[in-house]
Amino acid sequence: MTKRISLTQYLVEQQREHGHIPAQLRLLIEVVARACKRIAIAVNKGELGEVLGTAGSENVQGEVQKKLDIISNEVLIEANEWGGHLAAMASEEMDSIHVVPNRYPQGEYMLLFDPLDGSSNIDVNVSIGTIFSVLRKVNNQRGVSEEDFLQPGKQQAAAGYCVYGPQTTLVLTVGDGVAMFTLDRETGSWVLTSENVQIPADTKEFAINMSNMRHWAPPVKRYIDECLAGKEGPRGKDFNMRWVASMVADVHRILTRGGIFMYPWDQRDPDKPGKLRLMYEANPMAFLVEQAGGIATNGHQRIMELQPGKLHERVSVVLGSKNEVQRVTDYHLQDA
Ligand code: AHG
Ligand code: MN
Ligand code: MN
Ligand code: MN
Repeated sequence: MTKRISLTQYLVEQQREHGHIPAQLRLLIEVVARACKRIAIAVNKGELGEVLGTAGSENVQGEVQKKLDIISNEVLIEANEWGGHLAAMASEEMDSIHVVPNRYPQGEYMLLFDPLDGSSNIDVNVSIGTIFSVLRKVNNQRGVSEEDFLQPGKQQAAAGYCVYGPQTTLVLTVGDGVAMFTLDRETGSWVLTSENVQIPADTKEFAINMSNMRHWAPPVKRYIDECLAGKEGPRGKDFNMRWVASMVADVHRILTRGGIFMYPWDQRDPDKPGKLRLMYEANPMAFLVEQAGGIATNGHQRIMELQPGKLHERVSVVLGSKNEVQRVTDYHLQDA
């Protein structure tokens, strides 16, 4: 039988052997993993737990909030506020940052999350997830402000996501490759099931919401047209398409078998850089993808080098198999 190790053992070994994980960061990851377990339980209960449907409110980005968006946000805050590892948290579902209350010690890390990714899939029983990103508070002064969060993604200390699908899987990087842990529901523990995850450099599978085709910029249109032309076209091979509409599920497929994911800028709202959020979605996914040998750009620049101007900033996203993402990025640069 395969000898398997738990998330705790993995983290302890990373801390001991490679010095990648300070104690506070280890606690943080364990707490986030525990919160994801609680969210997984709520997700699994579905209608029986009365967690489906909308909450009747809107978030700061103008999206209608689902009950599970709010429940997941609360679970993550409650789990993380008392441990002493965090200074503050930021979330897709909160207008401004949540500073750790005075009754608890303040830690040196800051946690950002998309508590429930793929909201439109909750009620239809399709994979959804939680995405998180960890930054270090750079200034040592007391107190923490939104400014402290505005760091480029390359400064992330850790990032990951949990996918609530046929299996519940936690995917993590602390800057030393990507590891995956499957939730064993019988024992309640996270078990290491893949290490040193690598995205193949080439792929024949793309993920994009094709219904937006008429709004795309010319470089995106060119890339997809060439894929659709198949064997007879300039690419000389047939492509397959997938679009789950949960970024977590689409990225999980790419980390598992390769592919390219795009949610590009489009003309529907020319002043909006893209749909996805830089700090809660693009940066953590970019960190994971790069750690697995892929790349992530906004069509022009490396996502992790973008300097955020505000917490809820949006961005155009192209990520996954290296050669394909490079091709799309080259098309954008040639078009400029
Ligand atoms: P969220 O549910 O956290 O708001 O994120 C939804 C995002 C992302 O998960 C997905 O890739 C994309 O929205 C799907 O958008 P479309 O419905 O426009 O395809
Ligand atoms: Mn949302
Ligand atoms: Mn999301
Ligand atoms: Mn969300």
